[in-house]
Amino acid sequence: MRLAVNIDHIATLRNARNEGDPDPVEAALLSEKNGASGIVCHLREDRRHIRDNDLERLRQSITTKLDLEMAMTPEMQSIAIRTRPELVTLVPEKREELTTEGGFAIKAHFRTLVEFVKPIRDHGIQVSLFIEPEEEAIELSAKAGADLVELHTGPYSLCTGEESFVRELERIRSAARFGRQLGLGVVAGHGLGVRNIAPFRDIRDIEEVSIGHALIARAALIGLPAAIGEILNLIQR
Ligand code: PXP
Repeated sequence: MRLAVNIDHIATLRNARNEGDPDPVEAALLSEKNGASGIVCHLREDRRHIRDNDLERLRQSITTKLDLEMAMTPEMQSIAIRTRPELVTLVPEKREELTTEGGFAIKAHFRTLVEFVKPIRDHGIQVSLFIEPEEEAIELSAKAGADLVELHTGPYSLCTGEESFVRELERIRSAARFGRQLGLGVVAGHGLGVRNIAPFRDIRDIEEVSIGHALIARAALIGLPAAIGEILNLIQR
């Protein structure tokens, strides 16, 4: 299983002083050098971490795969088409949230979504939808023209008891299988880290995990290469 590294919180730290360090592009290159299969960044409407200039520099520098997480807005659509990341991941975005709080409400936005996705795909950019691990959402993602789905693992990451942990993992496992059966690529993310990633190694239908906060937090203590190494040790098949 591959690891895509989300470098948003390198930018959060940089923005705390509003100077140049640490540089998210430097973190992206270091991640690639240490085994990341892709770099993820979320350009939010309020630009609270990654900024437009970071995105441009990332596009010019990275050699694996750039995954631009973004909301379904006309502004983001034109940025995506101009920047040409390999992948766009559509996420619901609320101004007041601390982080993405749930999967995309596909049913409610289906028509808009179909129209939104088409020009992006027409420019050769793959589209992933961040959704709950549920069959209906997966089916609608395929119908909307998505190439991939990213299964929301937030609820899994918050499980405390053994029973809910097993149930949530099973939900993810069967959603991943269903997605693959429909011909979609399947990845997973949110709230994952060294503490809870190990069971994912055996979910063969998941090709990649996307990890940000826990990995960057760990990197602050032991360094980015070591933090990436810990995760890779747990997920490599
Ligand atoms: N995937 C998506 C779609 C996200 O929005 C985020 C958070 O930006 C992540 C993965 C990474 O989550 P975390 O920072 O909890 O690892």
